[in-house]
Amino acid sequence: METPVYSAKEFASLFGISKSTLLKLETDGTLPQPRMDNGIRTYMSHDIQEYLKRLGKPPLVEMRRRQIFLNFKGGTGKTSISAFYAFRLAELGMNVLMIDLDPQGHLTQCLGIDHSSFDATLYNVLIERMDIRDVVIDTRMKNLKLIPANLDLSPVELSLTSMNARELRLRKSLAPIQDEYDVIVMDASPSIGLLNLNGILASNELFVPVLADFLSYHGLKILFETLTTIEDDFDFLLDNIYIFLNHFNASHNICLRSKEALERHYSGYLMKTIIRQDTKIAEAASMGMPIHQYAPTNRGALDINSFIREIFPNLPIAF
Ligand SMILES: Nc1ncnc2c1ncn2[C@@H]1O[C@H](COP(=O)(O)OP(=O)(O)O)[C@@H](O)[C@H]1O
Ligand SMILES: [Mg+2]
Repeated sequence: METPVYSAKEFASLFGISKSTLLKLETDGTLPQPRMDNGIRTYMSHDIQEYLKRLGKPPLVEMRRRQIFLNFKGGTGKTSISAFYAFRLAELGMNVLMIDLDPQGHLTQCLGIDHSSFDATLYNVLIERMDIRDVVIDTRMKNLKLIPANLDLSPVELSLTSMNARELRLRKSLAPIQDEYDVIVMDASPSIGLLNLNGILASNELFVPVLADFLSYHGLKILFETLTTIEDDFDFLLDNIYIFLNHFNASHNICLRSKEALERHYSGYLMKTIIRQDTKIAEAASMGMPIHQYAPTNRGALDINSFIREIFPNLPIAF
C-alpha cells in the first residue's frame, strides 16, 4: 500500500469546486497552503475534514460507527472487501481503525503489512490486559490505523473460555479509544467462537457478504439464529444489518436465482449495491494493495464506491 495523494484537480472536485477556485481560496487564506512535492501541489486524505470545515460544509460523518464483516462461511469476501472498503473510507478523509480478528492475519496481509513486523495482537489486550493503544499500528496513511493479527492471536479462544465477562472484553477495551475514529471496521474469521462474539458485541453494525449460491444462502439462516440468541442473552441490538452479494456474475443463472431468493427472504437487510466478480479484487488482495490503488477504474473499485454511497448517503464530498 502506498500513501495516496490527490492532485489539485482531484482534490477540488471532492468539494465540488474547480481547481482555479481551490487555488484562489488558498491565496486569500480561506484554505491552507498545500504541500509541494517537486513543485507539484499535493493533497492528502487526512486534510479533507479540515477543508470541509473551512469551506463551511457539513462534517464528513454524522455519527461514529463500529462495523464487523462476518459470515460463518469462508471465502465470501469478508477480508478483501472490508480491507478495500476501510482503505477507501480513509482515502475519502475518515479516521478509520481496522481490526483484524482472524488469527490467520489475512486482513493484515491484505494491507501489505508483514505479520512479523509487530509484536502484540488483541491476545495481549483481551487476555493480558495490555493497553489497546499499544497494539494499534500506523499504516502509510495518517488516518488509517490497524490492530493487526497473526498466529499469536490463535490461543485467544481457549484463554477467553475461563475468564470473567469473556464476551465483552473487546467492547470494554475499545471504549477508551473508539471516539478517536469515525469508523471502526472489523474483519472476522469464518467461525462461531468467543472472539467473533466479542467482535459482534463491540459493533453496532454488521456486514454479511454472501456469494450467490445456495450454500451461502443457507448459512444466513444459522447466522440470524445465532444473532437472535446473542440479542436475547446479552440484551443487545445491532443498529443495522447489511447483507450484500459479492462475487456476482449476472450471466450465471444460479447468481440470479439466489439473488431472487435473498430478495424474497431478506429484503429488509439486503443492500442495493452488488459487488461484481472482478479478478482485480483477487489480484490486488494477493499483492497487499487496495483495489483503489491497484485498479481504481475497474468494476471492483466502482462497486465499493457505490457501497460507500449506500452506507453513507449524506457524505458532503463527491467521488
Ligand atoms: N468480487 C470479487 N471478485 C473476485 N474475487 C473476489 C471477490 N471478492 C473476493 N474475492 C477473492 O475471493 C477470495 C476469498 O475472499 P476473502 O476476502 O479472503 O474471503 P473471506 O475473508 O470471507 O474468507 C480471495 O482470493 C479474494 O480476493
Ligand atoms: Mg478472511
